[in-house]
Amino acid sequence: MNKTILAIETSCDDTSASIISNGKIESNVISSQLDHKKLGGVVPEIASRSHQKNIIYIVNSALSDAGAVKSDLDAIAFTIGPGLLGSLLVGSTFAKSFGYSLGIPLIGVNHLKAHAFSHTINKKKFNYPFLSLLVSGGHTQIILVKSYDDMEVVGETRDDAVGEAFDKCAKILGLDYPGGPLIDKYSINGNENMFLFPNTKVPDLDFSFSGIKTSFLYFINDNIKENSDFIEDNLNDICASIQKKLVEMLLDKFILAIKKYKVKDISICGGVAANSSLRKEINKLSEKHNLEVHIPEMEYCTDNAAMIANYAHYMYDDKKFSDFNIVPYSKNII
Ligand code: KG4
Ligand code: ZN
Repeated sequence: MNKTILAIETSCDDTSASIISNGKIESNVISSQLDHKKLGGVVPEIASRSHQKNIIYIVNSALSDAGAVKSDLDAIAFTIGPGLLGSLLVGSTFAKSFGYSLGIPLIGVNHLKAHAFSHTINKKKFNYPFLSLLVSGGHTQIILVKSYDDMEVVGETRDDAVGEAFDKCAKILGLDYPGGPLIDKYSINGNENMFLFPNTKVPDLDFSFSGIKTSFLYFINDNIKENSDFIEDNLNDICASIQKKLVEMLLDKFILAIKKYKVKDISICGGVAANSSLRKEINKLSEKHNLEVHIPEMEYCTDNAAMIANYAHYMYDDKKFSDFNIVPYSKNII
C-alpha cells in the first residue's frame, strides 16, 4: 500500500515541511528566520509571525520538490510539542485545516522523540535499546530508547541547554546568533588546550551549563582588562577551548549512562550533534567501548520536518492518529 505523509515542523524559529513516501524522505524544505540573527536570539512573537508568512510556501515547495500533489497525501503530521506555543499553534492549525479539507488523518508528533529517531532516516539498521544524547538549543537529555514509542529520559540539564551555552559564549565573544556553528568554525584552527575552564559537579546523569557560561564571562572580562584585543588576538584558541570543555561535559555523563544501562547502540541528535568535535569524540568513544554509533546526517541534526515525517511513518503504521481537538504543548515531555 502506498503511504505518503506531509510533515510540518514549527516548534521554534525554523519553518519546515517534508514529504515521506513509503518510508523514504522525498523532500525536506527549511526556511530559517534571519530576523533572529540581528536580534541575537529567538524572539517568540517574531517566530510565530514568520511561520504564518512562510508556511504555505514551504508546504508548496515540499510538495513540488517531492513531485507530489495534495491528492497524493494519506496523512498530515506536525510537531505537537514541546516548543514555543505561538510557533506550534501556527503549524498545528495549518495541519488541522489542511487535513480537514482533504479528509485525511492527523499525526501529532513529539519533537524530542522525532530528534531521538532522526538517525534512522532512510536507514533502518539499529538495535534496541539504544541511548540517545539529545543536544540542542532548547534541550540536553540522555534518552533510553526501548522502542520507537517507549523512551525514558534518564538524565537532563538542570538549567541551560548545551546549545544555549554555545550561543551565550558566542554572544560574549561578539559573534552572531546562532553562535554554535561559529564556535565550531573558529575552533578548526585553534588550540583546544590553550585555556582551561573549571569543572561543574552535578549529581546523577544530569547536566548543568549555567556555571560554565558565567566562568566564561569572567574569564573574558578579566583578560580584556589586561589586553583590550584579547578576543581578536585569541579567537580560534578561545573557541576551541570552550568547545572542548562543553563536549567533555556532555560525554562524561553519556559514558556513565552507557555503563549504567549497558547498551550496545548509541546515538547523538539535535542541533549540537552537528558539532564537528562532538561527532569526532563520539566516534572515538564508540571505538574504545566497542559500540555501534548512529549519527544523523547534518541536515537532520538541526530542526527539520524530515525527522517529523520519519517518526510519523512509524505512528501511521500503528494507526496512532490524533483527534482534531489535539492541542500543542510547550512543556518538556517525551
Ligand atoms: O535542534 P536545533 O536546530 O533547535 C532546537 O530545537 O533548539 O538546535 C539549535 C542549536 C543552537 O543552539 C545552535 O547554536 C546549535 O544547535 N548548533 C551547534 C552547531 N550547529 C548548530 N552547536 C555547536 N556546533 C555546531 N556545529
Ligand atoms: Zn529541536
